Amino acid sequence: MSSRGNFSGRIGFILAAAGSAVGLGNIWKFPYLAGQNGGAVFLFIYLICIFLLCYPVMAGEIAIGRKAGSDAYGSYHKLGGKNWGYLGLFGILAGIFILSFYNVVAGWAFGYFLHIAFGDLLLEPDFGSFFSFFVNDVLDVSSTKGLTNSNFLFSLMFMAITAVIVSQGIQKGIEAANKIMMPALYAILIGIIIYSLTLPNAISGVKFYLIPDFAELKIQTVFEGLKQAFFSLSLGMGALITYGSYLKKSENITSSAAVISLADTTVAFLSGLMVFPLVHFLQYKLQVTEVATAGPPLIFIVLPQIFHEMGPVLGRIVGGSFFLLVCFAALTSTISLLEVPVAYLVDQKKMKRKNVVWGIALLIFILGLPIMASQGMIPALNKLPFYKGQDFLVFVADMCDISLTIGGCLMCLFITYRWKIHNMDEELSIGNENYMNSFVRKYLNFTIQYVCPVLLGVLSVMVIIDKFFGIENLF
Ligand code: PHE
Repeated sequence: MSSRGNFSGRIGFILAAAGSAVGLGNIWKFPYLAGQNGGAVFLFIYLICIFLLCYPVMAGEIAIGRKAGSDAYGSYHKLGGKNWGYLGLFGILAGIFILSFYNVVAGWAFGYFLHIAFGDLLLEPDFGSFFSFFVNDVLDVSSTKGLTNSNFLFSLMFMAITAVIVSQGIQKGIEAANKIMMPALYAILIGIIIYSLTLPNAISGVKFYLIPDFAELKIQTVFEGLKQAFFSLSLGMGALITYGSYLKKSENITSSAAVISLADTTVAFLSGLMVFPLVHFLQYKLQVTEVATAGPPLIFIVLPQIFHEMGPVLGRIVGGSFFLLVCFAALTSTISLLEVPVAYLVDQKKMKRKNVVWGIALLIFILGLPIMASQGMIPALNKLPFYKGQDFLVFVADMCDISLTIGGCLMCLFITYRWKIHNMDEELSIGNENYMNSFVRKYLNFTIQYVCPVLLGVLSVMVIIDKFFGIENLF
């Protein structure tokens, strides 16, 4: 077993798992979802999802992984037999697809970081057209100030950096990288928040973010909150089973899961606190009442414009730091996404880590090519007729979201009907002597057996109906 590698201790594990959780989902998606869905109302629903549905699933996943000491497939297989192994495979596939689109967006962020910190992107007259040019011309190797514009190359580089780290193994690669990037990420985030709160009109941004707008409370708000919470905590696809399999028996799983959930939620919350004062500063500068903050434009169009307003020096510093933050967040997530299929091949097929890492990384990069091209280069992928005219990236991302909540639901059924709750309790009590008599045990037993499977099952079906047909047509 020891040849599989493990985390050196509690801190290493927590930082790596929190690194997996903290990602583009927190920094980019959470703020705009909150902005669109009634600010604090969304935050409130999100927190309920975390408490009621995510925390139990997280503790369950880590317990499964640590008990079995194997990859996602191997863990389900070992504890539940061959058929349950397919659930692990389903998760591994979901991870592969998530990474295929995630790496494309991470590549954009990497390109923006280089162009803002070392190039002159902030001098662009029109950030909207630059962004469409940038994502459209995937292969454009022309350069601005010696820096290429090809996002093909940027995402290739991002995948290569991920692969270099994962190929070093658990302690020397994954743990070491997270131990540097996670503290740096928090420091940059807090630094930018402090600065953004000093800008004119910042308080109006804070108010917009934090004052609840109940008129925005719709059934879709609940779906968005749930999907976002699952995605943000990296649940339902085996990342935490895999990381849990490298966790020592002496560690306390229930408290680690609480810290990881809290760390992730804090970053999501703080990202909103960073972004909205900036956005409202821009509105003040431009004397407009609203700027588009939905989807990719938020960080790739609106924020660069704000950094531009800050002037050449400060803009470069704040903007460069912001995109470095996004890159760190994305990288700690891509590492965990790559580790899931890698662990499968290393554990099950006894292949060498280094070879597997590069092979899988290349494969996933290739899978990402149509996604990259769906932003305009191949028009057929830009407007999918069967998916309300949305692009292929959105389609893949949505399908992944759905597979996560389904994966989480099936995991609860696995624990309840196959592995049995008392076995989970036994695993959770290792490293936590008080567990058996604790409230946490009662809470986890109740939620995993009754609340999560039902709510996750019903919500997953409703989300599917909503995505393809629109839920409002049903009622
Ligand atoms: N949690 C990451 C984010 O918020 C994404 C992710 C999903 C990472 C699933 C690993 C597994 O960006």
